[in-house]
Amino acid sequence: MAEPTMRAVVMAEPGPPEVLRIEARPRPIPGPHEVRVRVAASGLNRADLLQRRGRYPAPPGVPADILGLEYSGVVDAVGERVGQWSPGDRVMGLVGGGGYAEAVVVHEDEVLPIPDVVETVDGAALPEAFLTAWDAMDLQMGLAAGETVLIHAVGSGVGTAAVQLASLTGARVLGTSRTPEKLRRATDLGLDEAIPGGGAAWAEVVMERTGGRGVDVIVDLVGG
Ligand SMILES: NC(=O)c1ccc[n+]([C@@H]2O[C@H](COP(=O)([O-])OP(=O)(O)OC[C@H]3O[C@@H](n4cnc5c(N)ncnc54)[C@H](OP(=O)(O)O)[C@@H]3O)[C@@H](O)[C@H]2O)c1
Repeated sequence: MAEPTMRAVVMAEPGPPEVLRIEARPRPIPGPHEVRVRVAASGLNRADLLQRRGRYPAPPGVPADILGLEYSGVVDAVGERVGQWSPGDRVMGLVGGGGYAEAVVVHEDEVLPIPDVVETVDGAALPEAFLTAWDAMDLQMGLAAGETVLIHAVGSGVGTAAVQLASLTGARVLGTSRTPEKLRRATDLGLDEAIPGGGAAWAEVVMERTGGRGVDVIVDLVGG
C-alpha cells in the first residue's frame, strides 16, 4: 500500500519567495506522546522570512526544508500514551519547523487549546507574537493598570500584539516607530502616544509626555 502523503510548502534552497514549492511529503505519524494536527493556518513572522533567506537555520532534528514555526488546526490523531488531547480538539502552538504543511506532529505537552472565542485560523497568529508580548509585559514585568509602558518598534509583529494587550490591561501606552503608517495603525490598536523613532529624540519626547516621570516598563522590539 502506498505511504500516506500530505502537501507541504518546501524550500529547495534559501532565497526569495519564489524558492517555495508545494510538494508531496510523507504524512507524519505521531509517536506515543505526540499528537498530529491537521493544520488550518501557519503564522508568518519575521523569523519565517529570515529562515527562508537562510539567516535563521532550523534547530537540529527539525526538517530544514519545510518552514513554518507556528500553527493552528485540529487534532486528527493521537499517540497511544496521550491522555490530554482527542481527535477534534482545536489547538495551536510553536514548532521548530514544519508548520507550512497539511499536518504537523507535536509533543502533547507543547500544544495549546484555542480559546472558544478565537476562530481556528486566527489561533495561528497568537503563540509567537501575543505570547511573547504577554510574557515580556505581564510575566516578566507585571505591567498593571494605571502604569505606563513604552514599546519600541510598536509597529512590529510583537509590538502590535503588545499594544493591544497593554491597552486592555489599562496601561498608558507610548510607542516608537520610524514609520508613520505603523504609528497610525498602532494608534488604531490602542496606542496613546505615538513617538517617531529611529533617533535619539524619542527619550526627550517620552520625558515630556510623562511630565518628567518616565515610564514603568519598556519593551524593546527593534529587530529584524
Ligand atoms: N520569544 C521571543 O523571545 C521572541 C519572539 C518573537 C520575536 N522576538 C523578537 O522581537 C523583536 C520583534 O520581532 P517581530 O517578529 O515582531 O519583528 P518585525 O515585525 O520584523 O519588526 C521589527 C521592527 O523593528 C524595527 N526596526 C528594525 N530595524 C530598526 C532600526 N535600525 N532602528 C529602529 N527600528 C528598527 C522596525 O520598525 P520601524 O520600521 O517601525 O522602525 C520593524 O517593524 C525581534 O527582535 C525578535 O527577535 C522575540
